[in-house]
Amino acid sequence: MAYQTLIVEITDHVALIRLNRPEALNALSGQLVSELAAAMKAADADADVRCIVLTGSEKAFAAGADIKEMASKSYVDVLTGDLFGPEIEVIQRVRKPVIAAVAGYALGGGCELAMMCDFIICADNAKFGQPEINLGVIAGIGGTQRLTRFVGKSKAMDMNLTGRFMDAAEAERSGLVSRVVPADKLLDEAMGAAKKIASKSAIAAMVAKEAVNRSYETTLREGLLYERRAFHALFATEDQKEGMSAFAEKREAQFRDR
Ligand code: HXC
Repeated sequence: MAYQTLIVEITDHVALIRLNRPEALNALSGQLVSELAAAMKAADADADVRCIVLTGSEKAFAAGADIKEMASKSYVDVLTGDLFGPEIEVIQRVRKPVIAAVAGYALGGGCELAMMCDFIICADNAKFGQPEINLGVIAGIGGTQRLTRFVGKSKAMDMNLTGRFMDAAEAERSGLVSRVVPADKLLDEAMGAAKKIASKSAIAAMVAKEAVNRSYETTLREGLLYERRAFHALFATEDQKEGMSAFAEKREAQFRDR
């Protein structure tokens, strides 16, 4: 499918989705969010795709929701139109692993979009922030909820109340990102991680993602039981037999997603 605000390429079983509105630092217009939801859904359904990388440009992952597009909307407009709600639901329902590769600004909805991915690898020039307070509003797609779970209450309050940006070193220190790399190595690093994931059993990867995400939704006791049962269930797969036999036979496992 041809997109106007995205560039999608599939190589080595990895779908690379690049936000592409350079004139607005990849601000999330209605069109971009709809196209992104469609691209994510298509990648999730494509049997050739085993991992997804979401990225922007060197200057901006995304500078937030499109302020110019939102500015004149009324309460009734955003409520009845459920601004971003249905598309964001689609992005959150992707079952394959999704890595955010963030360079430059990830602000407002851009930071929130990165946090919707399974993990974030960032460039050393990355800047994360929830500056909505400067616009007289607050975060609307996870900036008060996911950010608090990533970095804790104190930093989440600081960022949501002052609107200040967090640099890459602070983001790594705070647990917001899993890795920081030089800007010119960002895509190599993210694609390398994605290809590594793509080489695993897709069933185990999907179940691992579900189990980690479950930890946000439930008590430790229930989460541990869910994890144990999911672990048990993987013994019904051929990939478990293959993975464990390959270890014993000192060879590379050939997973077949069965
Ligand atoms: C629309 C945007 C934009 C945005 C940048 N642009 N961010 N357009 N919406 N969020 C446009 C600028 O208007 C400008 O267009 C061009 O991109 C380049 O931006 P500059 O400001 O000239 O660049 P620079 O001076 O380098 O500053 C970069 C910046 C700044 C610090 C990132 O652009 C900025 O503060 N942007 C807004 C960040 C923000 O508040 N995000 C939160 C949005 S609210 P022209 O045409 O002038 O060249 C949100 C709510 C989410 O995300 C909730 C969802 C439900």
